[in-house]
Amino acid sequence: MKVQFSPLALPTQGTVIFLMAQDAPLSTLAQKLDDQTQGALSRAMRVEQFTGKKNTLVNLVAPAHTELDRVILLGVESQAETDVQQSADTLVSYVETFNLTDIHAIAETDSQAAHFAYGLQLSHYRFDKYRTRAELQAKCVLETLTVATDDPKAAQALYLPLEAVAEGVKVTRDLIWEPANVVYPESFAQFCICLKEHGLEVEVVNSYQMGELGMTSLLGVGQGSKHESLMVILKYTGTQDSDEPIAFLGKGVTFDSGGLSLKPNASMNTMKEDMGGAATVTGLMVALAKRKANVNAIGVLGLVENMPSDKAQRPSDVVTSMSGQTIEVMNTDAEGRLVLCDLMTYTQRTFKPKAMFDLATLTGAVLVALGEEIAGIFSNNDELVEKITAAGEAEQEYVWRLPLGGQFDRLLRSEIADMRNDGNKPRIGGSSVAGQFLSRFIENDTPWVHIDIAGTAWTKEGQPNKPKGATGYGVRLLDRLIKEQFEAKEK
Ligand code: BES
Ligand code: MG
Ligand code: ZN
Repeated sequence: MKVQFSPLALPTQGTVIFLMAQDAPLSTLAQKLDDQTQGALSRAMRVEQFTGKKNTLVNLVAPAHTELDRVILLGVESQAETDVQQSADTLVSYVETFNLTDIHAIAETDSQAAHFAYGLQLSHYRFDKYRTRAELQAKCVLETLTVATDDPKAAQALYLPLEAVAEGVKVTRDLIWEPANVVYPESFAQFCICLKEHGLEVEVVNSYQMGELGMTSLLGVGQGSKHESLMVILKYTGTQDSDEPIAFLGKGVTFDSGGLSLKPNASMNTMKEDMGGAATVTGLMVALAKRKANVNAIGVLGLVENMPSDKAQRPSDVVTSMSGQTIEVMNTDAEGRLVLCDLMTYTQRTFKPKAMFDLATLTGAVLVALGEEIAGIFSNNDELVEKITAAGEAEQEYVWRLPLGGQFDRLLRSEIADMRNDGNKPRIGGSSVAGQFLSRFIENDTPWVHIDIAGTAWTKEGQPNKPKGATGYGVRLLDRLIKEQFEAKEK
C-alpha cells in the first residue's frame, strides 16, 4: 500500500474517510460536506449514535449532491497515537469486504494523519502468497491511501520512521508465516544476505566455523537435520561514536520437532514459528536501517532445525558449550536455550555489548502464564526492566518480569555435567528455569534481558493492529526502547 499526504481538500470522487475523535465537532471539511449533502452526515451520525468511539464507523453510500461513492466517518476515539493507529483495524475489515483499492482520508491533525497511515500499514496485512484459488485470494486490495492534512510535509516527516518500523514488522511476520520447507537455515541466511541493500552488514558463520569457535551446544541441536546450522550476524552502524553496540540475539529454530524427545502432533504443527526470535531481530534491524537510527546495533541469529534422525543428539548426551560449561541434554525439546547460550557467549566475547537482549519462543509455560499479549522477561538489570516495561506500555507490546533465583538454579543440577538443559522437576516454573539456564552464560554482569515470546509471536484471534497469525511482536517494543534509551538525541 502506497501512502501519500496532501493538503486539506475535499475529494470529489471515490471513497472519503473522515477521522473523528470522540465528541469532537465536525471539522471544517466535514462541515462543508454536511452542508453540501443538506445535513446527511450529521443525520447519519445521529441515527447511528456515532460519537467517534474506537471500533465504530458510519458509512454513507453515494450521498446525494456529490459524486462521491462513499463517505465513511471513522471513530478514532482520542488523539492518542495508539488509539489512532488502532482505528485502522475497523476500517480494514470494511476495505476488504468492499474491495476498496484507493481511499482518501481526512485527518484532524498531522500526527493523526501519520499514525492512521502507520496503523493501516500494520493492520492491512495478510499472508496469502500460497493461495491460488480466486475466492481465497488476496484480501489485501488497498493500493493507495491519501491522507489530507494541514501540513502534508510535517505529516510525511512523522510518518517516514513509522513506515520503516511497519516494514520491519512485515519482514518479521512474513518470515514466521513461511513454512519450514521454505524457511530453513540456509534460506533464512540467504534472505539476510539480501538485507545488505538496506545498509546492513551481513556475515554468515557456517557449521565448520562454529565448530572452531567451540559452539558445540548450538551445533548439537541441528545435528539431526539435513540442513546445515548457521549463525548470521547483522550489523547496523548508525553512528560514528565508537560506542559499544547493543546486541539482539534471536532463537532461530526453523522447525522444532522436539528432536528425539519428539513432540506430540498437536504441539508440533505450530513449530514453524520457533524461529520467531530470529525473525523479530531481523525485522528490528531492518527497521533501524530504514529509519537510519542513530545507534550501533548487532543482531545475532542462531539458525538450526531440530529434527530426530540417526544423527540427532540423544537425551543424556553431554555437550560442552562455547563458555566451557558442560550441559547434559536430558530433553532434546529444550533446545532453544542450547542455541542461545552459545550465541550469548559469542556475542559477549566478540562485541562486548553495552546491553544484550535475547528473543526466543522458548517455553510453552510462558503462554500458559501470560497469554498471547504479554511476553515474559527475565533480567539481571532493574533499570533495563523499567525501561523496557515503559516501552511496552507505550507500544502496547507488553512485558511482565518473571523471577530468576536459587530455587530455579537448583532445578538445573545434573548428575554428570555442570547443568542439565531441562529442569529436573517437569512443569515446575518452566519459563524461569529456562531463564535461569541462560543467566549462567552472562559474563562480567553484561546488562541483559531475556524476552520469552512463545506466547506473543502468534495470535489465534488477532489483536489491535495485529491480524490473525504472526504478530511481529517485539519490533515496535525494541525500536521504541532504542529510540528512547540508546539513541544519541542529536546527529
Ligand atoms: N519451541 C518450544 C516452546 C514453544 C511452545 C514455543 C509453544 C511456542 C509455542 C520449546 O523449544 C520447547 O519445546 N520447550 C519445552 C521445554 C521443556 C521440554 C523443558 C516446553 O515448553 O515444553
Ligand atoms: Mg523444543
Ligand atoms: Zn523450540
